[in-house]
Amino acid sequence: MNTAQNPGKQAAAEAALEWIDDDMIVGVGTGSTVNLFIAALAARRGRIRGAVSSSEASTARLRAAGIEVLDLNSTGDLEIYVDGADEATRHGYLIKGGGGALTREKIVAAASRRFVCIVDGSKMVDVLGRFPLPIEVVPMARSYIARQITRLGGQPVWREGFVTDNGNAILDVHGLSILDPVSMERELNQLPGIVTVGLFAQRPADVVLIGDPSGLRKIVPQTDAR
Ligand code: 5RP
Repeated sequence: MNTAQNPGKQAAAEAALEWIDDDMIVGVGTGSTVNLFIAALAARRGRIRGAVSSSEASTARLRAAGIEVLDLNSTGDLEIYVDGADEATRHGYLIKGGGGALTREKIVAAASRRFVCIVDGSKMVDVLGRFPLPIEVVPMARSYIARQITRLGGQPVWREGFVTDNGNAILDVHGLSILDPVSMERELNQLPGIVTVGLFAQRPADVVLIGDPSGLRKIVPQTDAR
């Protein structure tokens, strides 16, 4: 679906502006929902200090919108990170990486005090795993990691022809029912050759903004001031 015609994504993207204060440096994720957020953020470009981007694609969009892109190495930690997700639970646990930007997304999320996740209602699930779990792997480890994942009960599929912004490969793991996302993220992180698991559970979203044609819902898994 053309994102311009997805009122759920549009509503969530626009609602995220409530978390953007003047003089902030904004962490910016990747994907079609974030593209709508960048378009909305452009109206505030003179009032924010700039953005830290999670992908080459978002960097290009931010620059085209007249928003300065800053290096995370020089900004220090950020107040806010805004990003989409492929699946989200009411606890703020996420599957991300459908666009392949999971590594930089996880870094910017980790470096941010508050993570605002913007999704349409179709992304909300009770149990993560219907969407294949993306895992970024060092190219030489791809087959080794695939065998380990198979032993754990998943069915890995190489996203053939796709190279991440970091020069790595992606395995999309089908057939998982992720009942304990924190443990699974920790377990997969132990495998040498895995760069990043697209499970965002150890650092979940602090706020999930859910756009539906009927309106906007907000979930705050932990107590959040705003
Ligand atoms: C990219 C991501 C995206 O946030 C995720 O794929 C959702 O994308 P979209 O907003 O297009 O539905 O994790 O790596």
